[in-house]
Amino acid sequence: MTNTVIVGTQWGDEGKGKIVDLLSEHADDVVRFQGGNNAGHTMVVNGKEIISHLIPSGIIQQKQCFIGNGVVVDPFVLLDEIDYLISNQIDVSPEKLKISNRAHMIMPYHKEIDKAREVKKGKDKIGTTGRGIGPCYEDKATRRGIRFCDLLDIEVFREKVITLMEEKNFYLKHYFKAETIDPEMVVDQVLKIRERLVPYICDVSVALFDGISKGRQILFEGAQGTHLDIEHGTYPFVTSSSTVSGNAANGTGLGPVHLNEIIGIVKAYTTRVGAGPFPTELFDETGDLIQKTGAEFGATTGRKRRCGWLDMVVLRNAARLNSLTGLAITKLDVLDDLEELKICTGYQYNGRVIPDFPPEIKILEECEPVYETLPGWKENTSGLRTYEDLPEKAKKYLTRIEDLSRVPIKIISVGPGREATIIKEKIF
Ligand code: GDP
Ligand code: IMO
Ligand code: MG
Repeated sequence: MTNTVIVGTQWGDEGKGKIVDLLSEHADDVVRFQGGNNAGHTMVVNGKEIISHLIPSGIIQQKQCFIGNGVVVDPFVLLDEIDYLISNQIDVSPEKLKISNRAHMIMPYHKEIDKAREVKKGKDKIGTTGRGIGPCYEDKATRRGIRFCDLLDIEVFREKVITLMEEKNFYLKHYFKAETIDPEMVVDQVLKIRERLVPYICDVSVALFDGISKGRQILFEGAQGTHLDIEHGTYPFVTSSSTVSGNAANGTGLGPVHLNEIIGIVKAYTTRVGAGPFPTELFDETGDLIQKTGAEFGATTGRKRRCGWLDMVVLRNAARLNSLTGLAITKLDVLDDLEELKICTGYQYNGRVIPDFPPEIKILEECEPVYETLPGWKENTSGLRTYEDLPEKAKKYLTRIEDLSRVPIKIISVGPGREATIIKEKIF
């Protein structure tokens, strides 16, 4: 029995959606365990692109999908996404998708506070997606969030929202000098969609556990990336959830013994969207070339992604934090035209080399990456389907990644489509 966890190792957008879609074929259940619609996961099947923000990517292969308790769910976005998938002939009925009764709801005031806070921060802003993610997790931590189970009792729901919004409106009006929101309107808006939401609500922990006892295999779909993790990332330039593999257990209500294989998705270079330190960022024409060749624009906000070289300090950190058992290298094809490639092996700061990822933003901003240079392969890899067929210099680049991370590469992706994949070692 192989339950497999997929996590991003860098700053998100590593290609998790593509790999989850690919591996879904072998899974029975696919579950999201953290984050919300700040995620944008892209699948390309038979040339058609589908982007999901909230619903597990396994829905494309029509697997049983779950949204775990660790996810924050905007109910309006959820219904829009359900409609979008249905319009693409994908079944998203309550038989196919279940939402945890313990998952917290992103409410309209969360989005307003997220945006107002960024405006107030000015040049120091985090560059959030503006989807209300941070303010929703904040309410969860301060124990007054609205959960899906609250929707089951209309009076409980109404009272919680009205009580909480008194404070939200005070904060919006007096601190941010922003428009207040009518609490009755919020209650009415949500109650209008309540009937559509209720059939999806279930105890996800119980359902997954039942499945395990019947031999079902679970694929856990991470969102964001290890260096956006609230505990281990480039704090405060992070998201508000724990993105690492350990949270696949907590965010779904299963114990860690059920996490068997942990695959870290690694873009063959590095990107980051939003603010925050990025030691190997490129500000030259190579960075521009990677950005253009890789079509590096955010799948959620459309922002241009910052691009840079592959960073092994980052990858070693991810290997330890997630207990990675394998790597999936994506977008190798984007590097096809480069004369040479650089891999960062450490950071130089104040005359000494730092081998491990430091917590201080100042050090991350001021350190100099130590690079190793490898020759480019200058061949088109996008049509290749076996490891043996890869150019020798591309294999050398991949082997160096394995040596420096001490994690075996199991999958290599050479294009956005499901078919553009090299399986080096079987996972399921
Ligand atoms: P996610 O958030 O980790 O799921 O990644 P995104 O979907 O936000 O961004 C990854 C982008 O790269 C998407 O546009 C994918 O279609 C694309 N992609 C994934 N794998 C490959 C690959 O191997 N080669 C190329 N050229 N594009 C890829
Ligand atoms: P996927 O799952 C890339 C970034 C935002 C911002 C920071 C905090 O597609 O890899 P938030 O809205 O979460 O409070 O924003 O995190 N961010 C992502 N960057 N990919 C994502 O998801 C991201 N989700 C959030 O850009 O810097
Ligand atoms: Mg993305």
